[in-house]
Amino acid sequence: MSDITLSQLTLMKQRGEKIAMLTCYDATFAAASSAAGVDILLIGDTLGMILQGHDSTLPVTLEDMVYHTASVKRGNAGSFILSDLSFMTYSSPAQALYSAGCLMQAGAHMVKLEGGGWLGETIRQLTRNGVPVCAHIGLTPQSVNVLGGFKVQGRDPQQAKALVETAQALEAAGAAMILVEAVPVSLGKKLSDAVTVPVIGIGAGAGTDGQVLVLHDMLGLSLTGRVPKFVHNFMHGQMSIQDALKSYVIAVKEGIFPAAEHGYRE
Ligand code: KIV
Ligand code: NA
Repeated sequence: MSDITLSQLTLMKQRGEKIAMLTCYDATFAAASSAAGVDILLIGDTLGMILQGHDSTLPVTLEDMVYHTASVKRGNAGSFILSDLSFMTYSSPAQALYSAGCLMQAGAHMVKLEGGGWLGETIRQLTRNGVPVCAHIGLTPQSVNVLGGFKVQGRDPQQAKALVETAQALEAAGAAMILVEAVPVSLGKKLSDAVTVPVIGIGAGAGTDGQVLVLHDMLGLSLTGRVPKFVHNFMHGQMSIQDALKSYVIAVKEGIFPAAEHGYRE
């Protein structure tokens, strides 16, 4: 089976079909997730916490991301592969081009970077060079030390308006997907309505065009015992990991997940 394409994902938004994304770091889970119908496999820099045991994503290197992207590519059977540009690997357009080139050659179909309007030139150059870009906004974990912790973003109306303008500026610069993390439910919906590209949410309510969770979180595995409010354990009531993955895909597609209890209020 040929892999899902960016134009198919864009079409899903236009048709109102929800997009199911999960993080993925290795070949075996790539095979299981794509067989379960996960549309997008995200090689997230959360691997710094989930696989490596760090307390943030900052220690993750480009080499780490290339290694895991190549592993996921080998197991993938039909999903779209999205890879994170890790901390300090896209500080200039030239550096971003080099880093993204390594991820694309390892098997990524698109790269993701964290930040706002200042990334416009970087996004333009990447796209011009054949690299589609997903822009990650809202809570951006690589900036945890600037934000002063892992906090819900866009809670006051001023901030919410600024985030909508940021999403529009990123789309204008060529971003072909937006990922929004930890914002009020109402803002997740507003963001999705404000742009034509797919908006994937995590802790952003049911109104986004798709959902993403960290694989280990949704399988009920936690290193620290701290699980964010927006996570649901999909192993509940399931006999196997494969069934849990399938039930996640169904819950996203049918709009059952996320439920009200997973969302943040303004
Ligand atoms: O690195 C990651 O897993 C992510 C998701 C939390 C969206 O960026
Ligand atoms: Na990430």
